[in-house]
Amino acid sequence: MSKTLAIIGGTGLTELEGLTISKAHDMHTPYGSPSAPILEGELLGHRVLFLARHGHPHRIPPHKVNYRANLWALQNLFATDVIAINAVGGINQAMTTESLVLPDQLIDYTWGRDSTFFDGENGQVTHIDLSYPYSESLREGLIAASHDLKIDLMTSATYGVTQGPRLETAAEIKRMENDGCDLVGMTGMPETVLARELKLNYASIALVVNPAAGKGDSGITIKQIEKALNSGMSKLLKVLGKFVIDYYE
Ligand code: HPA
Repeated sequence: MSKTLAIIGGTGLTELEGLTISKAHDMHTPYGSPSAPILEGELLGHRVLFLARHGHPHRIPPHKVNYRANLWALQNLFATDVIAINAVGGINQAMTTESLVLPDQLIDYTWGRDSTFFDGENGQVTHIDLSYPYSESLREGLIAASHDLKIDLMTSATYGVTQGPRLETAAEIKRMENDGCDLVGMTGMPETVLARELKLNYASIALVVNPAAGKGDSGITIKQIEKALNSGMSKLLKVLGKFVIDYYE
């Protein structure tokens, strides 16, 4: 079966530059509507789907994103692979603002989100394996792309996913650090597990946009986050473009 990539754009990426759009799919799913119409088009000669996780314009907070509708709709448009783009705070001191990081592990601190397609309603109880939450093949593809471009990409990190929409307290970040988290964000779950439930290959590429609470010299400001998004996103998109060219020959 041929592979089709879906890109889920997060904060700072509601449109995908270079995507020649052929169709905007207004989807309805058994779980409701996705965050935005799913754009289908060509990116560097390959069929790609694009979805703005927070809507376009950006209006849906992380805890209100309809993750089930988003993933279900992408699969219905024949996506096989999903690359999620996540803006995150850096907990690990090495993961400074504007760093690009490929998480390889995840800890879920969210609550109250619709986090499974297997909610027992069809009379079946299913426990899926999430020991290694990200697709190694997609991760390797992204690592190869960054090597070829000589763009730094950190390839091992644990992504702690908080409920939001507020940012964390310094004590919460300390606790997360003790738990082993390197990054903190609000959208990695349940997106990751839902992709696994649908047997989609899934990887996340994270852009650090601020030091996590208590890790910087002062509080976290939106201005600081926007600055990092503006300067870091182009680097991330270069890696993604090279990945698309090489991985989908
Ligand atoms: N915490 C949680 N989510 C985030 C952060 C943060 O510091 N920065 C960007 N997304």
